[in-house]
Amino acid sequence: MRIPQETVQLIQETADIVDVVNDYVTLKKRGANMIACCPFHNEKTPSFNVNPSRGIFKCFGCGKAGDSVKFIMEIEGIGYPEALRHLAKKYGIELKETEQTPEEVQSQNERESLYIVLDYAKKFYQDKLLKSDEGQSIGLSYFQERGFHTQTINQFELGYALESWDAFTKDALQHQFQIELLEKAGLSIRRDLDGRPDARVFDRFRARVIFPIHNVSGKVIAFGARILKADKNQPKYLNSPETEVYHKSNILYGIYQAKNAIRNEDVAYLVEGYTDVISLHQSGITNVVASSGTALTVEQIRLISRFTQHITVLYDGDAAGIKASLRGLDLILEEGLNVKLCTFPEGEDPDSYVRKIGGEAFKAYLQKTPLTLFGSRPRYYCRTPETILFERQA
Ligand code: UTP
Ligand code: MN
Repeated sequence: MRIPQETVQLIQETADIVDVVNDYVTLKKRGANMIACCPFHNEKTPSFNVNPSRGIFKCFGCGKAGDSVKFIMEIEGIGYPEALRHLAKKYGIELKETEQTPEEVQSQNERESLYIVLDYAKKFYQDKLLKSDEGQSIGLSYFQERGFHTQTINQFELGYALESWDAFTKDALQHQFQIELLEKAGLSIRRDLDGRPDARVFDRFRARVIFPIHNVSGKVIAFGARILKADKNQPKYLNSPETEVYHKSNILYGIYQAKNAIRNEDVAYLVEGYTDVISLHQSGITNVVASSGTALTVEQIRLISRFTQHITVLYDGDAAGIKASLRGLDLILEEGLNVKLCTFPEGEDPDSYVRKIGGEAFKAYLQKTPLTLFGSRPRYYCRTPETILFERQA
């Protein structure tokens, strides 16, 4: 299990500090150093420094400092060996490790265990989607009906949860995962019933297509799961509960897949749903993230601000959609970012609209949104059905 010293050295030499930090926040050159607003604490002027020649980072605001491995330990909340593994994976460095002993498993911190079981679950659902008869005939054909290509399905690591009470839980228990961990990860539900004999464990996600939710570095932290048949008694999307690694107000769906495009385009498109993100991606618009049905939070805006200071909000044209977005716009302005709003014709969301008119026409449609905003507490003017303009309050 121990990672050999020469591999540790190879990882340390390969894991360039600038490249490693860039997965989490955009660095700007200042003299011989690189700077950014600190990803560990909230600030508006950058005091986070990276020294490329020495291979270290230091924040003069909160005091956090160290090398690439230390940075990963701090930002992912994982221990030293797990941080080495994270970097080895990033740089394609092969680790010849033996099976973990029970003691080693015990010594993992809770976050590490959660990442491991969530990754296991992701693979389980992917496998069921692509390889089981039920997954192919129900899940895969659903995605295909929605126009998702194989490459897209793979890129977003989509999956399928079988129509079974406990297919996943049983499998995971057989693979030595503890029931307590499965519960903490939000994957399994236990009805204890005070020790009665009909107590049982079952899968949270059943007979649904699965959308893994990734953190900014690509680790799976939760799942969204969509029902396939209309059923008034069940929510259309069922999401993981809050866990040690998943705080829904801190994350945006698609941030891992979108962050480089957000950086390059210097704007983030903010949509409401999983399928909006995926459809836009597939149409060549990849700088897109979703708030996933919850009201936009300050933490989500700060996450975007690590990569750009410009947000364009793309919300449904219905009254509820517009009202929901106005609150978000205020928040974005209060955080000091620039914002535009684009809405869509009646009955369309970004997913349906981009499928209708295509990626190029969609981009042109967004360009019509004419005003850049600054300042806080704007007044809202609705000039056309599709576009809402703002003016700074006198
Ligand atoms: P929508 O109902 O607009 O979903 O909810 P959608 O993305 O257009 O879904 P499709 O096209 O019908 O598949 C927007 C987002 O709100 C969250 C999901 O993140 C969804 O993508 N949501 C919605 C939930 O979390 N639970 C729900 O029951 C419904
Ligand atoms: Mn939709």
